[in-house]
Amino acid sequence: MSEPPTNTKETTAMSGENPESAPAVHTGRSAATSPTTTEGPAPALEVRSVSKYFGSVNALEDVSLAVHAGQVTCVLGDNGAGKSTLIKILSGVHTPDSGEMLFDGDPVTFAGPREARAHGIATVFQDLATVPLMSVWRNFFLGNEPTRGRGPLQRMDIKQAQRVMREEMAKMGIDVRDPNQTVGTLSGGERQAVAIARAVYFGAKVLILDEPTSALGVRQSGIVLKYVIQARELGRAVIFITHNPHHAYPVGDRFVLLKRGRMLGSYAKSDTSIAKLTSLMAGGAELEELSHELQRAVDPSVKEVAKELAAEVKTPG
Ligand SMILES: Nc1ncnc2c1ncn2[C@@H]1O[C@H](COP(=O)(O)OP(=O)(O)OP(=O)(O)O)[C@@H](O)[C@H]1O
Ligand SMILES: [Mg+2]
Repeated sequence: MSEPPTNTKETTAMSGENPESAPAVHTGRSAATSPTTTEGPAPALEVRSVSKYFGSVNALEDVSLAVHAGQVTCVLGDNGAGKSTLIKILSGVHTPDSGEMLFDGDPVTFAGPREARAHGIATVFQDLATVPLMSVWRNFFLGNEPTRGRGPLQRMDIKQAQRVMREEMAKMGIDVRDPNQTVGTLSGGERQAVAIARAVYFGAKVLILDEPTSALGVRQSGIVLKYVIQARELGRAVIFITHNPHHAYPVGDRFVLLKRGRMLGSYAKSDTSIAKLTSLMAGGAELEELSHELQRAVDPSVKEVAKELAAEVKTPG
């Protein structure tokens, strides 16, 4: 994993992802408020029965989730299941219409993403993860640039910033040829990698990754999964959003399934399997019906998919 950040500069813009610099905003632990805290420490971050509506769209309904330090909680669900809405609530972008949120066991509300970041919650959003017109190295630091000199002579240490960025990106298997290149000219996967490398480097207490692997190739996906495991081993609470059970299962400790904004279930790793998660996500019966439908297709490649689906349905959970 990364070396600790070398900069100690306190900034307000897009910063606060370093737990050491996160302000201690909570006084006193209210252990009695959480039924889940009877054993061990309170979850780093928790939501209870949250709902969110967009006009008549029920984006989330009565969803609960707790994420502990040193654990990876995977949120799984198909397109439109409410995954991004849930993490936007956790990271201060949306305010829930009902339900409550707790940070280290204490009730909390975030007025905006900056407040969530100040608590040490780093989110790599599915969209808007980087600033397209800014250079790669500026995107990596976003207001947290290392400095040299003191007082009025203090300057941004551009060389150091570019070196760190290149090293961290190299760890993700990406060779940034020109650090001044704007992020908009990178591929989707490379852009995602900048956002992930940044969140991991600045060592947040809670790391939220919204579909970090969806735009990535096999090798980069593997590297991201390795980062997820490393973050867990460093004691971070990780929330990993994906619609791919094959990516979730190997790294997850707990799996929360969403469907059309509602919770289908929450399972510890020992209580589930890749096959069970796949079948739950697609809905076993729906999957079987889809497989039959596709088998009637003429196109041989569609038939191949149908066969795979049929195998998926038959695999014992
Ligand atoms: N700002 C918004 N305004 C209106 N509707 C929204 C908004 N954000 C999300 N929705 C709706 O809420 C539902 C859940 O969306 P969300 O983005 O949370 O799904 P998701 O699980 O992240 O899907 P995907 O896998 O495609 O990213 C969708 O029906 C979506 O259209
Ligand atoms: Mg989403």
